[in-house]
Amino acid sequence: MKKIAVLTSGGDAPGMNAAVRAVVRKAIFEGIEVAGIYNGYQGLIDGKIELLQLGSVGDIIQRGGTMLRSARSVDFRTPEGRDKAVEQLKAHGIEAIVVIGGDGSFQGAFELTKLGIPCVGVPATIDNDIKGTDFTIGFDTALNTVIDAIDKIRDTASSHERTFIVEVMGRDAGDLALWAGLAGGAETILIPEEKYDVPAIIERLKSGSGRGKKHSIIIVAEGVMPAVELADLLKREADIDTRISVLGHIQRGGSPSARDRVIASQFGARAVEVLKEGRGGVAVGLRNNGIVEYELKDVVEDKNEWKSEMYKLSIELSI
Ligand code: F6P
Repeated sequence: MKKIAVLTSGGDAPGMNAAVRAVVRKAIFEGIEVAGIYNGYQGLIDGKIELLQLGSVGDIIQRGGTMLRSARSVDFRTPEGRDKAVEQLKAHGIEAIVVIGGDGSFQGAFELTKLGIPCVGVPATIDNDIKGTDFTIGFDTALNTVIDAIDKIRDTASSHERTFIVEVMGRDAGDLALWAGLAGGAETILIPEEKYDVPAIIERLKSGSGRGKKHSIIIVAEGVMPAVELADLLKREADIDTRISVLGHIQRGGSPSARDRVIASQFGARAVEVLKEGRGGVAVGLRNNGIVEYELKDVVEDKNEWKSEMYKLSIELSI
């Protein structure tokens, strides 16, 4: 393996830069040249490719976003687009790629591997929805951002004795909402993986206020419904007034937490080791505190398996 490339794709996540840095430095340490592909798969098709040096990734470990920029490419979803991508790689002498991103990015990595370009996936998404790894890069930072917001909202909720609905990202996954709800002491958490029942939510709010509880925080994952819809439901069904807060893209930004920087460094370095061994079609991750590898095929063909223990705990602790 003489020359590899690295790209970031899909929604950005804090810690992507730390992963890029690890890939570049580990590759150079191993005597492998490394190119940066800008703007994800679209940039690959368009030939936005540049050789990176040790200094190219200096002063980025602490920065959110991605220095390689990111995109969701429509062209790459077509066979013609992917053929152009392979042509670009051949023209630049690139033998393999480290793809940093979420499940859509892994799908692309899987397709490229099938076309003869070994790819290794590095899981990075605030959604934490990649089967095969306990944690994705960016989840921890986003979680802390959400908790910081919940703590602040609780201050004003308690001063005004109000019920707040906080809408959290995650696409169709509930990890961010659930972990944030548990860590932020939310009274109710709605996630796509678990059924919800509006009468039960109303009953819970009423029994809380019957016991003298003056304020309440409801966390709703965006994959369940928009906060504004839930607010309308509570008003219509039980005349409950709420305030809503949609955290939005704030959750994707900010300096990565120490944990995200560490796993990003570990994942990036392991990805290079896998490519150096001439292997592709796998992703790296963290399971039971150890760095692991798993097949890209299994990620793209299956959904993340849901474990309901944490949800049950959140219900028990928020009575
Ligand atoms: O996958 C990360 C994520 O932030 C999701 O939580 C969210 O649904 C989506 O990306 C938003 O995408 P965009 O930035 O394209 O609006």
